[in-house]
Amino acid sequence: MIRAVHVEHYYEGQNGWIHALSDLNLEIPANEFLCVIGPSGCGKSTFLKIVAGLVRQSSGEVLLHGAPIAGPGPDRGIVFQEPALFAWRTVLGNVEFGLQMQKMSKAEARHRAERILEIVGLGHVMNLYPYQLSGGMRHRVAVARAWALPKADLLLMDEPFSAIDAINRMTLQDYLIDTWSREKRTVLYVTHDIDEAVYLADRILLMRPSPGRIGRFFEVKMPRPRDRNSAQFSELKALITLEMHRTADPSEDTLAGPPEFTA
Ligand SMILES: Nc1ncnc2c1ncn2[C@@H]1O[C@H](COP(=O)(O)OP(=O)(O)OP(=O)(O)O)[C@@H](O)[C@H]1O
Ligand SMILES: [Mg+2]
Repeated sequence: MIRAVHVEHYYEGQNGWIHALSDLNLEIPANEFLCVIGPSGCGKSTFLKIVAGLVRQSSGEVLLHGAPIAGPGPDRGIVFQEPALFAWRTVLGNVEFGLQMQKMSKAEARHRAERILEIVGLGHVMNLYPYQLSGGMRHRVAVARAWALPKADLLLMDEPFSAIDAINRMTLQDYLIDTWSREKRTVLYVTHDIDEAVYLADRILLMRPSPGRIGRFFEVKMPRPRDRNSAQFSELKALITLEMHRTADPSEDTLAGPPEFTA
């Protein structure tokens, strides 16, 4: 579904160029739930923005269904850390909006928006306005809005729940996994929360900083819903934490183990 080949990205900084991504090579198969983790500044958001078509890489290629990404499009739903909802539209109106923009008929948009809102557990607040919702509910609306887009077979999420308290975050993770299981999409999910990555992902990409590049992949085969209290879960978390600390140190240029790991 996505193929990145020799992707390099530089930003112009105040003291010269910042090498944000170096030789990124990556394939993401359809319907995979890929979590990207890594220390601050390792290029996670940059990669997501390139796939979103919001940033154009300096060199290399990023292909979506075999074609180079030329800009943003209705085939990709994006959810950022702060849910940007329309304050003057109801919950239902927020979800319907994107569908109407895609020239879906009013009746069809209404039907689809209602169905997605039921799936994310917001059926009972469809007619409320964003200010009448809790923070967690607003995030669910943002997820529903991205999910509702009929052509968006790719969802790009950049720390969508990081501003949410731990308990509500877990609820949101469950809604997300439940929605994904019922209506599969390819998900590229950036997080700095290792627990969240192990809970959600089919595969975890750990990136390394300075310059941002691929560190290691962890394949997570544990059946869902995953048990955070299981030994396997804790072991994988501990391993990733260890590896994250090692990779955060630029002087550590070797990996502790093989580049791929399965749990
Ligand atoms: N618009 C920009 N202009 C200049 N430099 C930028 C810009 N955006 C990002 N950078 C730099 O590029 C590097 C990668 O940034 P990026 O936002 O991709 O990191 P990140 O992994 O998402 O970090 P975080 O975990 O803090 O969100 C950082 O050094 C950052 O300072
Ligand atoms: Mg970021």
